[in-house]
This record gives sequence, structure tokens and C-alpha cells, in this order.
Amino acid sequence: MGKPSRVLIVGGTGYMGKRMVMASLALGHPTFVLVRPDQVASNIHKAQLVISFKQAGAHLIQGSVDDHESIVNALKQVDVVVSTIAESHILEQLKLIKAIKEVGTIKRFLPSEFGMDVDRMHHVMEPGNLLFEQKRQVRRATEAARIPYTYVSANCFAGYFLAGLAQYGRFIPPTDKVFIYGEGTRIVIWVYEDDAATYALKTVDDPKTVNKTVYIRPPKNILSQREVVEIWEKLCGKVLHKMPISEEDWLAPMEDESTSVQRKVEMAIFYHIFYRGELANFELNQSNQLEAATLYPDVEYTSVERYLSRFA
Ligand SMILES: NC(=O)c1ccc[n+]([C@@H]2O[C@H](COP(=O)([O-])OP(=O)(O)OC[C@H]3O[C@@H](n4cnc5c(N)ncnc54)[C@H](OP(=O)(O)O)[C@@H]3O)[C@@H](O)[C@H]2O)c1
Repeated sequence: MGKPSRVLIVGGTGYMGKRMVMASLALGHPTFVLVRPDQVASNIHKAQLVISFKQAGAHLIQGSVDDHESIVNALKQVDVVVSTIAESHILEQLKLIKAIKEVGTIKRFLPSEFGMDVDRMHHVMEPGNLLFEQKRQVRRATEAARIPYTYVSANCFAGYFLAGLAQYGRFIPPTDKVFIYGEGTRIVIWVYEDDAATYALKTVDDPKTVNKTVYIRPPKNILSQREVVEIWEKLCGKVLHKMPISEEDWLAPMEDESTSVQRKVEMAIFYHIFYRGELANFELNQSNQLEAATLYPDVEYTSVERYLSRFA
């Protein structure tokens, strides 16, 4: 195997981006972080994060996808681009794609995805489909520009979904009562964000993953909400009061004008995951579908039990 590719992270100071930077460094890639100078100068968290990247060995490149010359300059220094641009700015990646095409030397592009496979989700309930549609636009633009890509479907991030036992808007586990979606038996796939970053970076120099979708399905983490609650009950030594929410009750606020669009988007996504079971209701049997834990059995992923034990 050759030398690890040079990797540029775009969106590096974000929730997922910072994990990509650290995973890239840990896997021995010369790692470059696109830094928007104005943002870093005016934000204490970003400023300190960027310095910590530098101290960990990353190279900082000043620039922005809004500034074509700067992004072209950054792309000329690397082989691989991993984008973790925010959901609110997914279409900014069209500028990145234009620059990648112009430079012509990028061997792999991972667009900002890391959730459900958007090409399987054309039917998402409105207004939840907006984000999926934008991610699909980025996929189609990548393919049209003939840029080698890998799409990473990382399912439910642990911090967002597992930590709160999938309670909407809650990020630590409850110890008294828990809402259960329907029967709570739909199968969900729970993935620790650091593991998602490691798997994503593992793909970038792997010829098997070029122009494929890689699904992260850690075998021990394919569990229903009820199974997750049981694991937590054992860890915390308490039996939680279960409060089932019917599909109708869950969806009722979608009809309410006072519910914000953001909330409706999130509720629609919860609906497809927890009531329809659409993360795990299909097999990976097409030639463009691969599974990360099978590809990279050397990665010691974090089990649901180990993740939740931090809260016990
Ligand atoms: N599967 C899941 O459960 C799950 C959960 C959360 C997110 N995700 C996915 O993960 C991906 C990354 O999400 P995230 O939560 O990490 O994002 P985030 O933290 O909200 O933002 C990521 C970065 O986007 C960049 N950005 C923001 N505004 C920008 C602008 N106007 N122009 C250019 N860059 C801008 C910033 O990077 P810099 O300031 O460093 O340039 C920011 O730190 C998304 O595709 C999201 O859908 C999945």
C-alpha cells in the first residue's frame, strides 16, 4: 500500500468535521483543514479548535468555498476532500465541486452526508425531504463532474440519538420515564461519531470504495429502541416507565402551523427511522453498496453498551 493520501477537511470546526480531522491524523494522512479566517477570528471555540488541530499536526489553509481562488489553491495541495459542511449550507458544495473539477487531480471526494442514504429516501415526508433533495443534488453534480466519490451513510449518530435514548431534544439518558415510538421494535442503527469518522477516512485510499455507498452498520449496534432502553436499564440499575407514542400522536404537530419548519424536518426524519424502520429494512446486495464494519474489521467500534456506560 502506498503513502496515505493528503486529505483536506472542509467544515473542519463543525460537529463532525473536528472528528474527521482527528481521524485523518490518527490514520497517518497529511491532513489539511480549510479555515475561514473571519469565522475563526471571531469565534473562541473555532479559534481554539483550529489551534488544537495545528498542535496535533494538521496544516491550516486559509480559504472558503465562497472564494474560488482560495479553494482552488487548497485543492492543489491535496488528493482527497472530505466535506462536513453544515446542513444549512449543503448546496455550498456545488462551488466546491466546480473547483474540484477545475483542478482535476482530486482522487476522492466525500460530500457532507453521514446520515440516511438519500437516494433511498425520495419519499421522505415533507418538509423533511428538503435536506435529502439538496444532498441528492450534490451527489448528481459530483457524478456529472466525474469526480471519484464515496458516499458514507452513517445512520443515527450516538450523540444525537443514542445518548438520549432517542428522546426528541434530549442528549443524556432519562432515568425515570421514556417515550417509546410505537412498539419500539423497529430496527435502528446506532453509530458513535468518532467511529463514523474513522470508517469514513478508511475509505479514502481504498480502491474498493470508489464510486460506492458505504453504509456503517456495526453488527452489535443494530438494535431497536426497546433493546437500547433495556441496555440502559441494566447499566443504571433502574426500570424506566415506558410511555408509547402512537404514530398519529407523533405526527399531529406536523399539521400545526405553530410548529417550526426545523422541528417538522426533524419529526419527519424521526418518523422514517423509528416508525417505518427505514435504516435497516433493506439488504446491501447491490454492487455499489458496501458495509464498513465488514470492510474494516480492524476498527474496534464502540458498542451501544459501551457508549451508554459513560452516563451510568
Ligand atoms: N447521522 C446523524 O445522526 C447526523 C447528525 C448530525 C449531522 N449529520 C450530518 O453530518 C454532516 C455535518 O453536519 P455537522 O452537524 O457536523 O455540521 P455543523 O457542525 O452544523 O457545521 C459544519 C461546518 O459547516 C461549515 N459552515 C457553516 N456555515 C457555512 C457557510 N456559510 N459556508 C461554508 N461553510 C459553512 C462550518 O465549518 P468551518 O467554520 O470550519 O468552515 C461548520 O463548522 C451533515 O451532512 C449532517 O447532515 C448526521
